[in-house]
Amino acid sequence: MKLPYILFLLIVAICGIANENSSIKIIQPIDNSLYAGHDATVVVEIDTTKIDKLEVVLNSGKTINIELNKTKATYCKAILLDVGENKIAVNGYKDNNLSESVKRNLYFYADVFEGSDEEESEDYDKNYFHANDNEEKCKACHDMTSNVPTDGEAYEDVTITTCYNCHQAKISSKNTHAPAANWLCLECHNGKSGEYNMDQRGIAKYLVRDPVARTCGQCHEDVEDWFMQDYTHGPVNDGRCVRCHNPHGSDYEFFLRKPIWDLCTTCHSEKANGKHVIPAIGFGRSPTRGGHPTKDRKDPARKGRDFYCSSCHNPHGSEGIFLLRMKGSFTYGVCQRCHQK
Ligand code: HEC
Ligand code: HEC
Ligand code: HEC
Ligand code: HEC
Ligand code: HEC
Ligand code: HEC
Ligand code: HEC
Ligand code: HEC
Repeated sequence: MKLPYILFLLIVAICGIANENSSIKIIQPIDNSLYAGHDATVVVEIDTTKIDKLEVVLNSGKTINIELNKTKATYCKAILLDVGENKIAVNGYKDNNLSESVKRNLYFYADVFEGSDEEESEDYDKNYFHANDNEEKCKACHDMTSNVPTDGEAYEDVTITTCYNCHQAKISSKNTHAPAANWLCLECHNGKSGEYNMDQRGIAKYLVRDPVARTCGQCHEDVEDWFMQDYTHGPVNDGRCVRCHNPHGSDYEFFLRKPIWDLCTTCHSEKANGKHVIPAIGFGRSPTRGGHPTKDRKDPARKGRDFYCSSCHNPHGSEGIFLLRMKGSFTYGVCQRCHQK
C-alpha cells in the first residue's frame, strides 16, 4: 500500500472518532426498551445543516417520512410496534444520499400474543419515562404537568388533557374502555405501584399498581366476589386482569386481547383439538367422538351471545368446580344450563 493512501485512511479514521456530534440524536426511545403496549414515541434532534430529509423505518419495513422545517431541530412521532422484537431505524439524508442511520431495538411483550416470548423479553428493560430528568427534555415545548380530573368527572373535550398531546395512539381501538376513552388516565395511573413493589417506589409518576386487580375493583365490584369464591381462575387469582383484557380498549368484545375462544386456547392449547368435555358422550363414531362443540354456535343460555369456552366456564371465578357456571362439584350440573331434561 502506498504511503499517501495509508495516511488518507488514518485521517478518515481519526475524523470518524472525532466526529462525535453526529447529525441525528435520538432522545426517545432508549435502546433495548420493553413495551407493554403497541405504541412508542420517537423523538429526534437533528443537525439541520447536515440533513435535509428524515425518515423512520419501522420493523415491518414501513417508512414514515418526517416533514422537515429549516427552523426546527426536534421532531416527534408516535409509531406502532409489531408484537415481539422491533428493529427501528431513523435515517437522515443530504441531497438524497443516506448520511446517517441510527437504530433502536425495542420489544413489545403481551403474553397471549403469538410472537411475544417471555424469555426473549427478558433481554430488554422497562425504561419508565415519566421521571423529572426525562420530562425536562420536553418541557420547552410540552406541558408536562397533569390536568387530568381526579374526581371522575371527565372533560367534555378530552383533547385539552395534557396527556392527549403525546398519547393519542394509545386510545385508537374499535372499543375503548370508558375511563381511558374519557382520558381519566389517573383513575388507574395513580402512581401507587410502589405500594406493592418497593423497587418501583418513586421511579416514575404514573405507574399503575401491579397487580392491577384492586384498581379495577374500585369500579367493578364483582372483583371482590371472584376472590371470595370457591374457585378462582389462576390469572385472576394473581391479579393479572391485563393478561386477558387491554385496560385501554381493543377491537374485541370486553376489551379482550383476542376473541374469547382464541384467548382461552392460547393458554389451554390442549382444549383446541375438538375433543373437550366428557369423553364418554356421543357424537357417534366420528373421529371427534368425545367432543362437545366449543365454538361456532349460538349460546342457548345467553340471548344474542356466541357460544365459546366462557359459555360454560366463568373466566374469573365460580362456586362450581373447574370454574363451571353452576354450583358444586358435579360437573354434569352445568349441562342443564342449555339442555333441558
Ligand atoms: C422543540 C419543541 C419540542 C420538544 C423539545 C419536544 N417536542 Fe414533542 N412535539 C412538538 C410538536 C410541535 C409536536 C406536534 C406534532 C407536529 O405537529 O409535528 C409534538 C408532538 C409530540 C408527540 C405526538 C406525536 C404524534 O405522532 O402523535 C409526542 C408523543 C411527543 N411530541 C413527545 C415528546 C417527548 C417525549 C419529548 C421530550 C423527550 C418531546 N416531545 C420534546 C415539539 C417538541
Ligand atoms: C411530552 C409527551 C408526553 C406527555 C405530555 C405525557 N406523556 Fe406519558 N409518556 C411519554 C413517553 C415518550 C412515554 C414512554 C413510552 C412511549 O414511548 O410512548 C410515556 C409513558 C407513559 C406511561 C408509562 C410509564 C412510564 O413512565 O414510562 C404512562 C403511564 C404515561 N406515560 C402516562 C401519562 C399521563 C397520565 C400523562 C398526562 C398526565 C402523560 N403521560 C403525558 C410522553 C408523554
Ligand atoms: C383501567 C385502568 C387504566 C386506564 C384508565 C388507563 N390505563 Fe394505561 N395502563 C393500565 C395498565 C394496567 C397498564 C399496564 C399494561 C400492561 O402491563 O399490559 C397500562 C399501561 C400504560 C402505558 C405503558 C404501555 C407500555 O408500552 O409499556 C401507557 C403509556 C399508558 N398506560 C397510558 C395511558 C393513558 C395516556 C391513559 C389515559 C388515556 C391510560 N393509560 C388509561 C391501565 C389503565
Ligand atoms: C374508574 C372506573 C373504572 C376502572 C378503574 C376500571 N373500569 Fe372497567 N369499566 C368502567 C366503566 C364505566 C365501564 C362501562 C363502560 C364501558 O364499557 O367502557 C367499564 C367496562 C369494562 C368492561 C366491559 C364490561 C362489559 O360488560 O362490557 C371490562 C371488561 C372492564 N371494564 C375491565 C376493566 C379492567 C380489567 C380494569 C382494570 C385494569 C377496569 N375495568 C378498571 C369503569 C372502570
Ligand atoms: C383468563 C382471562 C381473563 C382474566 C385474567 C380476566 N378476565 Fe375479565 N373477562 C374475560 C372474558 C373471556 C370475559 C367475557 C366473559 C363472557 O363470556 O361473558 C370477561 C368479562 C369481564 C367483564 C364483563 C362483565 C363480566 O363480569 O363478565 C369485566 C368487568 C371483567 N371481565 C373484568 C375483569 C377484571 C377486573 C379482571 C381482573 C381481576 C379480569 N376481568 C380478569 C377474561 C378474563
Ligand atoms: C394467560 C393464560 C390463561 C388464559 C388466557 C386462560 N387461562 Fe385458564 N388457567 C390458567 C392458569 C394458570 C390456570 C391454573 C392452572 C392450574 O392451577 O392448574 C387456569 C385454570 C383454568 C381452569 C381450571 C382448571 C382446574 O383444574 O381447576 C379452567 C376451567 C380454565 N382455566 C378455563 C379457561 C377459560 C374458559 C379461558 C378463557 C376464557 C381461560 N382459561 C384462559 C391460565 C389461563
Ligand atoms: C359445553 C360446556 C363446555 C365448554 C364449551 C367448554 N368446557 Fe371446559 N369443561 C367443561 C366441563 C363439564 C369440564 C369438567 C369435565 C371435563 O374435564 O371434561 C371442563 C373442564 C375444563 C378444564 C379443567 C379440566 C381439564 O380437563 O383440564 C379446563 C382447563 C377447560 N375446561 C377449559 C376449556 C376451554 C379452554 C374451553 C374452550 C376451548 C372449554 N373448556 C369449553 C365444560 C365445557
Ligand atoms: C352453554 C350451553 C351448553 C352447555 C352448558 C352444554 N351444552 Fe351441550 N350443546 C350445546 C350446543 C350449542 C350444542 C350444539 C347443538 C347443535 O349443534 O345444534 C350442544 C350439543 C350437545 C350434544 C349433541 C346432541 C345435541 O343435542 O345436538 C350433546 C350430547 C351435548 N351437547 C351434551 C352436553 C352435556 C353432557 C353437557 C354437560 C357436560 C352439555 N352438553 C353442556 C350447548 C351446551
